[in-house]
Amino acid sequence: MKAVKVGLLGLGTVGTGVVRLVEGHQEDLSNQVGSPISIAQILVKDRGKSRSIAIDPAKLTEDPWEIVRNPEIDVIVEVMGGIGQTKEYILEALELGKHIVTANKDLMALHGPEILEKAREKGCDVLYEASVAGGIPIIRTLIEGFSSDRITKIMGIVNGTTNYILTKMSQEGAAYSEVLKEAQELGYAEADPTSDVEGLDAARKMTILSTLGFRSNVALENVSVKGISSVSQEDIQYAKQLGYEVKLLGIAERQDDLISVSVQPTMIKRSHPIASVNGVFNAVYVHGEAVGETMFYGAGAGELPTATSVVADLVAVVKNMKLGVNGRQAQLAYNVTKLKTDDQ
Ligand code: NDP
Ligand code: HSE
Repeated sequence: MKAVKVGLLGLGTVGTGVVRLVEGHQEDLSNQVGSPISIAQILVKDRGKSRSIAIDPAKLTEDPWEIVRNPEIDVIVEVMGGIGQTKEYILEALELGKHIVTANKDLMALHGPEILEKAREKGCDVLYEASVAGGIPIIRTLIEGFSSDRITKIMGIVNGTTNYILTKMSQEGAAYSEVLKEAQELGYAEADPTSDVEGLDAARKMTILSTLGFRSNVALENVSVKGISSVSQEDIQYAKQLGYEVKLLGIAERQDDLISVSVQPTMIKRSHPIASVNGVFNAVYVHGEAVGETMFYGAGAGELPTATSVVADLVAVVKNMKLGVNGRQAQLAYNVTKLKTDDQ
């Protein structure tokens, strides 16, 4: 049985989790897909850095093109982050017929349509489950689980770092800057945590969720954003006295053809299920005309929860390879974008 060869771009928090899962669950994964999955090459910034897992040094490279242009590689798993250069690597990999799995919401929120269009043209998969809400399989749920319904509202806590900070401030009276440092040390925060605390990370995720949920092309620039950097300990304690918790909430609503999407710190009555979503956990509430209310809950960031979504996408890509049906999801998302164009 020929192994499916994976090129891993990035060996930080998420990349390390991907290696651990692919190695630790190898037998089960290969039973599911019918061949071994091998991480053949890994991109890092610094080959000399000490790592928390043992890696064959011969697999490490600092040259992205060595992986992207390696004819032996079937699938690229992108967990390095970044936008400009990263987009170039992905487009080139697609051009060469490689499938993509990515956790990069920055890239997908800004350049998703272009990347998915390229994937469609080349008959390749681009799967990005880990880009929103870490370990919660919300993207496949919106695309497939609710294909029969018309979604009217998507609301939730979609940033683990800020929820971790707000929870610790509320429950322990902890200082904002100290808890942010903790979230960074735990691997929850972005390389530049400004995007977490100023709400941009959540806005990018809400862009992706509302595009998929409403089957419309929602642009990031139309999302109104306010983060938590100006939320004080006093604000949180005052809200608590009134029976509320402060949460960074993403809210996307659709009324007929009008869509509004926002991210802002919000006071939520303690009796509401979202008020008890604490720490790094995320929750996404989806309301559909037919299904009514649904809610999805789980770890929104961190090594293994995020890697769970990445590796599930990898398994889906390899199953599609075996069936010869790659590009199905890209095709689907392309139709979503096109619908909106037809409507306009
Ligand atoms: P890290 O900063 O922990 O890791 C990034 C990795 O990519 C490192 O191994 C780094 O190399 C490598 N890298 C970065 N830039 C370059 C470059 N220019 N050339 C070569 N190698 C490079 O990031 P995370 O693992 O936390 O996040 C990765 C992606 O996953 C991001 O898009 C993030 O938004 C997303 N994500 C993260 C989650 C989390 O919980 N952390 C959850 C969901 C999504 P080196 O090790 O040598 O420094
Ligand atoms: N920085 C992000 C968060 C990582 O805290 O939610 C998961 O996307």
